[in-house]
Amino acid sequence: MGRMILVSNRLPVTLRRGRDGAMDIVRSSGGLVAALGPIHEAGDGLWIGNVGDQLEPDVEKDLSRRRYVAVPVSNTETRGYYYGYSNSAVWPLFHYMPERAKFDRSQFETYRAVNQRFADQIVESYEPGDTIWVQDYQLMLVPRMVRERLPDARIGFFLHIPFPSSEMFRLLPERDEILRGLLGANVIGFHTYDYARHFISAVLRTLGIHMREGIAQLDGHRAEVGTFPIGIDTEAWRKLAVSRAAENSIRELRSYFGERRIILGVERLDYTKGIPLKLQAFRRLLTEHRELLGKVVLIQVVVPSREAIASYDEQRREIEQMVGQINGEFGKPGVVPIHYQHRSTPPAELAALYRIADVALVTPLRDGMNLVAKEYIACQVDGDGTLVLSEFAGAASELGEALRVNPWDVDGTAETIYRALEMDPMERRERTAGMFKRIRANDVHRWARLAIAAIERPAPAQFHAPEARDPDELAALIKPELEKAKRPAILLDYDGTIREFTEQPHEARPTESILRVLKMIERHEKAQLILVSGRDSHTLDDWFSGLAMTLIAEHGAWTRFSGESEWAMAGPVIDQEWKRTVLAMLNEYTRRTPGSSVEEKTTALVWHYRAADKDLGRWQARELTSQLEDYLANEPVEVIEGALNVEVRQQGINKATAYRTVEQALGPFDFHLAMGDDTTDEDLFSAIPDSGFSIHVGGGPSRAKESITSPSAARALLRALFNDRGPASD
Ligand code: UDP
Ligand code: G6P
Repeated sequence: MGRMILVSNRLPVTLRRGRDGAMDIVRSSGGLVAALGPIHEAGDGLWIGNVGDQLEPDVEKDLSRRRYVAVPVSNTETRGYYYGYSNSAVWPLFHYMPERAKFDRSQFETYRAVNQRFADQIVESYEPGDTIWVQDYQLMLVPRMVRERLPDARIGFFLHIPFPSSEMFRLLPERDEILRGLLGANVIGFHTYDYARHFISAVLRTLGIHMREGIAQLDGHRAEVGTFPIGIDTEAWRKLAVSRAAENSIRELRSYFGERRIILGVERLDYTKGIPLKLQAFRRLLTEHRELLGKVVLIQVVVPSREAIASYDEQRREIEQMVGQINGEFGKPGVVPIHYQHRSTPPAELAALYRIADVALVTPLRDGMNLVAKEYIACQVDGDGTLVLSEFAGAASELGEALRVNPWDVDGTAETIYRALEMDPMERRERTAGMFKRIRANDVHRWARLAIAAIERPAPAQFHAPEARDPDELAALIKPELEKAKRPAILLDYDGTIREFTEQPHEARPTESILRVLKMIERHEKAQLILVSGRDSHTLDDWFSGLAMTLIAEHGAWTRFSGESEWAMAGPVIDQEWKRTVLAMLNEYTRRTPGSSVEEKTTALVWHYRAADKDLGRWQARELTSQLEDYLANEPVEVIEGALNVEVRQQGINKATAYRTVEQALGPFDFHLAMGDDTTDEDLFSAIPDSGFSIHVGGGPSRAKESITSPSAARALLRALFNDRGPASD
């Protein structure tokens, strides 16, 4: 395994000139840095980023000892690239605030030049086998710039902010170049399914590239979209919340605020965070519930950010004016409704605030994820805080137990804050416990693991897509061989091959025409008919009771030889411990995906989404597959993404082993016809000898030599081969 090369606009350290005039290296704060820090520290890779303009040689040495590589960006370039295009065009637009966006060609050109410098540095640092992972909207052109020079590199990209609807995105004058830039990556990651969907439709509408199932084959590489909601270092926050420093801080706060209930807001000073509307809601609360005066206090922590941009400065003035007005209107000696601080807060102090706050008000107008919401929950060691969360934060899709608000609805938000203050302690605890569990399970380490696994996963081998033939034409090709054969084997998959899919798996009973075709083959004097299915044995017994063919159930786990009534197992059933957790995961996906269902077999569990919305189903299937692969890496099972299902099954059992079992018992065969439609049938296609006929049903890439369009064409082919003289129609 090669190294991990992380790339972000900011390095996790900032240079600050100390009092003595020398440069100090200090840790930068923020969610992105916190997320990637542990990965960098645990590995032997590099982190490429910008720390400013001029680097003194000993600072550079210090950086390189920490495996940081600085990309120099001059002050003038920072104006165009960072304050300009990144934060005055992309940032507001992607947060649905086009009226704040300023599009300026020359700023874009600086953005492009700085992106190119990052790409050049990556290429220079790269060694074959390394993985490159580029972060966020400041560097969207980098993946393609690197791809042009390193066509075979594994490149990932992750967007930490929302990807807006394509209607909004298309306002961006440089939309084509930006999308092409991103498509240079192998995996483009987003926090939520919505952002990913928006990206896929922007790619289609802007570039005309159809990312089927979130995947595009571009010249020379494959780009796919993934959803990886970022988490926090839950354990570290939990520890911090009970640290001595936090305890001290809590004592001080308590002695100052006494019995007053505390409402907390923590955000970077950014117009996307909705601070003025939040203050309005707080004012409304005090107006409507006068009895709260002197009993509640709002602590609003605002972290300075991007101060050189005028709209940030205006936002600061607006906030400070409102704080002054509210305090002026409602305050009196000893009663200050809003405690406002505009500076960066050390983590332990922050953890103390999180822990002591009765209510956290996280009410952004738009936010890619929002880590503050998660950090607040992680710090509820006493379990008694209530989270009020904007429905426009990415975190809202994971934190269902929070009290949701629409921040534009000031009255509604005020009432929700009141409800949060009044909430029954049992209810608070239950809600917090549910969210805490989720935040602990989906922490930042898991986020990084899943995203990196997706980037590093080798692209599946490219099968060709055989051209579909007409059944009669194919029959004419096969028939002479069949007639010569002394012991032909006819190996048929069932669902999707000779039987059309139905909404519910149990509805796919064989029709009269299928039974007639099968009987016809059975009557052939030499042919051995073998149904090689993924279905369980009871279903096959039930559906094919009148037939004498050999039946294979669960992809080879069970066999019932022709003429027998007992099923034989292929081998011992291994430890089934994995099933419990996998079942829980599949049930979770079933809840999230209306119309989907779970099937339990002796050696496998299957999640079906035939009856679900196909786009959502496929999407969830890919998510599920990657989560299962991650979780089951050390288990003796394998995960297979099928045509309309995801199956987890015992390793070492597949349609190739099934074929060998029948071949041993009934063979040797001197003719093979194998038909199937699904991933699992590919094993069968590769197991039969080269001289055999492998036929893929339904189109798409396959190892099979031949292809026909549908189950009905498959039946027509069989009828033509076995001289069914019944009615030609199905
Ligand atoms: N944070 C910080 N310094 C502070 C206050 C907060 O670094 O003084 C951190 C906070 O702990 C959180 C991050 O800044 O991890 C803010 O992330 P979020 O996703 O909420 O918003 P962003 O600022 O990334 O838009
Ligand atoms: C958001 C962005 C990050 C950025 C952070 C702080 O979280 O997604 O890329 O680093 O805000 O903003 P700043 O401009 O100070 O880096």
